[in-house]
Amino acid sequence: MSQAPDKLHDTVRDYYAERARNTDSCCSSAQCCKTKNVIYPEDLLADVPEDIADFSLGCGDPITLACLEAGQTVLDLGSGGGLDCFLAAKKVGPTGQIIGIDMTPEMIEKARASADRLRLENVEFRHGTLEALPVKENTVDVIISNCVINLAPDKHEVLTEAFRVLTPGGKLAISDIVTQGPLPKEIKESLAAWAECVAGALDINEYTAVLEEVGFTNIEIIPVYFDPETVNEAVTEPERSIDPDTIPQEMLTKTVFSARISAYKPEE
Ligand SMILES: C[S@@+](CC[C@H](N)C(=O)[O-])C[C@H]1O[C@@H](n2cnc3c(N)ncnc32)[C@H](O)[C@@H]1O
Repeated sequence: MSQAPDKLHDTVRDYYAERARNTDSCCSSAQCCKTKNVIYPEDLLADVPEDIADFSLGCGDPITLACLEAGQTVLDLGSGGGLDCFLAAKKVGPTGQIIGIDMTPEMIEKARASADRLRLENVEFRHGTLEALPVKENTVDVIISNCVINLAPDKHEVLTEAFRVLTPGGKLAISDIVTQGPLPKEIKESLAAWAECVAGALDINEYTAVLEEVGFTNIEIIPVYFDPETVNEAVTEPERSIDPDTIPQEMLTKTVFSARISAYKPEE
């Protein structure tokens, strides 16, 4: 993408501010934003009010991937309406702590209002960017993120920040959009496609290389599309709204897809 990072941030912020204002679920790109019933096990959503559970803009289930334990401190990168933070809170219990970070004020406001409604005292939402996390170093046990890192102009910068705040031995457990093979130039250069989680997606090999460069170990990137355990109609036939005439369906199912990504900060 030839656009300046600030321009990309502004585009993404405007796009998600609008989603928050319209309480519209789903950015409806390739694999982004499957309905809640597709991406989360039913029992995980039990007791979550429907309107909160419905406001998912994610592309996977980082909660199950994270295998959270009671008492852990969890950081959600790009927390949006807060659903993953609320689900994480159930897993870590009252002795754990959840911090959601988002750069869109409308999302922070929405997430805080839902946390109040749910009377969750161990969940807080901080306004900030993934490129300069308002979080102390070596303080987070697990980082989760759902369909966000693809939106960042500089993935190396974001993952370096994630590495900084994780405790030694800490885990990164994210769902994100990835590619396998190149995207056409017109898609790579489309601001709309960037905001809708397609144009900024890294190739799996590139994603792995960035995680390695930053210092992560035990890296696993599992494409959901190719996983026979999880593949289903909704994933193989994604809904989409961007440039419907220019992005071939074949590409949306075979080149751009959701992946479960896990990695660790080494023990000291
Ligand atoms: C596709 S939505 C996903 C929201 C949420 N994770 C979910 O699953 O519903 C992307 C979110 O990431 C936020 N975001 C994108 N880039 C960001 C950045 N560089 N720093 C902080 N937040 C960012 C947006 O404001 C938006 O709320």
